[in-house]
Amino acid sequence: MFHILNSGMTLQGLNHSSIDFYNYSDKFSVHETKDGSISLRSSNFNELFHSFSGAKKESLEKYINPSELSRFRKKGIVTVLDVCLGMGYNSASLIETLKNEKVYLNLWALEIDKNPLNIALENANFRSNWSTNTIKILNKILKHNTFNNELINAEILWGDARKSINKIPKDIKFDLIYLDPFSPQKCPCLWSEEFLTKLSNKLNDNGWLITYSRAAAIRTSLKNSGLDIKTIIPRDNYKAWSNGTLAFKNNDYESQENKIKLWSNLSKMEEDHLKTLAAIPYRDPSGKSTQPEIISRRNIEQSKSNLKPTSLWKRQWLHTKGY
Ligand SMILES: C[S@@+](CC[C@H](N)C(=O)[O-])C[C@H]1O[C@@H](n2cnc3c(N)ncnc32)[C@H](O)[C@@H]1O
Repeated sequence: MFHILNSGMTLQGLNHSSIDFYNYSDKFSVHETKDGSISLRSSNFNELFHSFSGAKKESLEKYINPSELSRFRKKGIVTVLDVCLGMGYNSASLIETLKNEKVYLNLWALEIDKNPLNIALENANFRSNWSTNTIKILNKILKHNTFNNELINAEILWGDARKSINKIPKDIKFDLIYLDPFSPQKCPCLWSEEFLTKLSNKLNDNGWLITYSRAAAIRTSLKNSGLDIKTIIPRDNYKAWSNGTLAFKNNDYESQENKIKLWSNLSKMEEDHLKTLAAIPYRDPSGKSTQPEIISRRNIEQSKSNLKPTSLWKRQWLHTKGY
């Protein structure tokens, strides 16, 4: 069961003059995922916002748990960038977890469209996942682009993240960056080596970038931007070979109280993936390329490359291991 919602719907109380993407519009349908939480399907990208196994589950498993947020208790503050706020699952999970940890949250978010958050906040199923306080904070962010109290300072920059990232003050560096765009083939502009390099430059010395993507091109670009990469270990899905990627410049943290390993070095299989054509980066040198331009630029680069075809890697690893 799902309903179609137009992006052209009126956003009451919103200050449209602060939005710099007048031509952007999308249509969404609401879907219930397996954990009972709702997600949206975008017609522009023809993709669901979250995995079918659960929108809230995905946010906890792929972003919140690997962040090991208890390590910020001592410092008492964490500065986070949520790239692609969407319906706000990652930010909401963060707000609720940090409240229990008594850690102050300095949250920045990038998003092109106000409608996913607006639709989420009008949906009873979505609201039932969170405390009244978290819903109040998300509403304030939606309406005023900013919110501040004794537990949180939040700022959202609406617009194309390729441009809005430049509006984050230079002195703000992040402990955590959550990168959650649509898939690289559908939304390559937010996975380009140029954009990933901008993100890695926004990490502080011990900052971590976390993404659901385990794609070879993304891992290669993160490495090219100077980061070490780790694989996020799938916990309850033995068929998955990775739950995503954790990337950092330096890491001085070894899990103390949490004996369960949440991430590890890449396996031989994952290292080999980076030696195939799938590892050719998405490139967007002007920061303005369209999806077809980025994809065709990559196709041309792949056609000239000496790297081995990814089909050979798949045959060697995925078929034999039963993934
Ligand atoms: C997979 S969804 C994000 C899901 C989100 N993290 C959540 O918890 O609901 C991808 C989001 O990227 C946004 N988006 C697409 N292109 C963008 C761009 N160029 N700049 C910023 N946001 C973009 C879409 O509007 C959508 O909300």
